Amino acid sequence: MTPVTTRTFAADPAGLEAAAEALRAGGLVAFPTETVYGLGVDARNSDAVARLYQAKGRPSFNPLIVHVASFEAAEALVEFDATSRDLAQAFWPGALTLVLPLKEGAGISPLVTAGLTTLAVRMPDHAVAQGLLAAFDGPVAAPSANPSGQVSPTTFAHVKTQMTGRIDGIVDGGACGVGLESTIVVAQAVPTLLRAGGVPAEAIEAALGGTLATPSDRVDDAAAPTSPGQLSSHYAPKGQVRLNVDHPAPDETLLGFGPVEAPLNLSPSGDLVEAAAALFDALHRLNEMGAERIAVSPIPAHGLGRAINDRLQRAAAPRAEGSGAPA
Ligand code: TXA
Ligand code: MG
Repeated sequence: MTPVTTRTFAADPAGLEAAAEALRAGGLVAFPTETVYGLGVDARNSDAVARLYQAKGRPSFNPLIVHVASFEAAEALVEFDATSRDLAQAFWPGALTLVLPLKEGAGISPLVTAGLTTLAVRMPDHAVAQGLLAAFDGPVAAPSANPSGQVSPTTFAHVKTQMTGRIDGIVDGGACGVGLESTIVVAQAVPTLLRAGGVPAEAIEAALGGTLATPSDRVDDAAAPTSPGQLSSHYAPKGQVRLNVDHPAPDETLLGFGPVEAPLNLSPSGDLVEAAAALFDALHRLNEMGAERIAVSPIPAHGLGRAINDRLQRAAAPRAEGSGAPA
């Protein structure tokens, strides 16, 4: 692919207007959200979406999340029912993506949904993302702004290092507060958790007044939703990763959690929110340090710990060459 010039856009009104103009011209523009940096394109422009898949090296069967500025903008694209309306009311703007039936005539490129009849939508809780969506005034499809299979970006510098020469611009909006991608829920008759993420499953269950199913609970259910992006190897740092380690081997670099001696610690005080925000930056740093063998302290499996463990398990998964890891 021919290298392109990657501009930096300031996170001010003039910068966001220029970034919106680049999106209107079919460009690929990375921008911060509260979860991770997204790589945005006009969700109605198939040529732009095709360039996006190419820039990420993403398997084209893996559909994208569409970002909207308001509930009304989402309603123009997908069918809400009572449950999904309640969830949007409870968690938007925020780190919850809802997978809902795509409305006919919504104008979304079929490359965004990878041919599914559903669309994933979310309203980000970030002033810069909101400013860009308002300036653009249309649906923005945005996967995480990293090459497919690699660690997601939570700072401007991560995107710049990974995507310069592949995309048209980056909005410089500082570090992402949550640090993990959104939680993905299919809000149909049986609400189902497709991906653990920035909103803990417990909070969603409290809002639903019931439990969330997972796709593995529903293996015999013909109506069960599919989660095409959830292939096992992902978020992969360059080194090998071993999880739940209390006593690292001498040749291992410890990624700590809680009160342990470690060169990098996600949260010395054992705070899961702090650890979530630090996770991807720590994986980027381990790459920079050239760590070949990485050991990770045990991390509790509740609250944001569920999403942290999900990302770490994928980082530790065996990497089949050419398997086309998801993004
Ligand atoms: O926090 C986030 O969600 C970030 C920021 C940029 O918003 N975006 C993000 O996008 O993580 P991405 O492309 O890295 O992950 C999107 C996930 C994939 O696992 C994909 O398979 C799933 O969403 N997905 C998208 N549309 C879907 C659909 N219609 N049905 C089921 N899964 C879907
Ligand atoms: Mg991703």
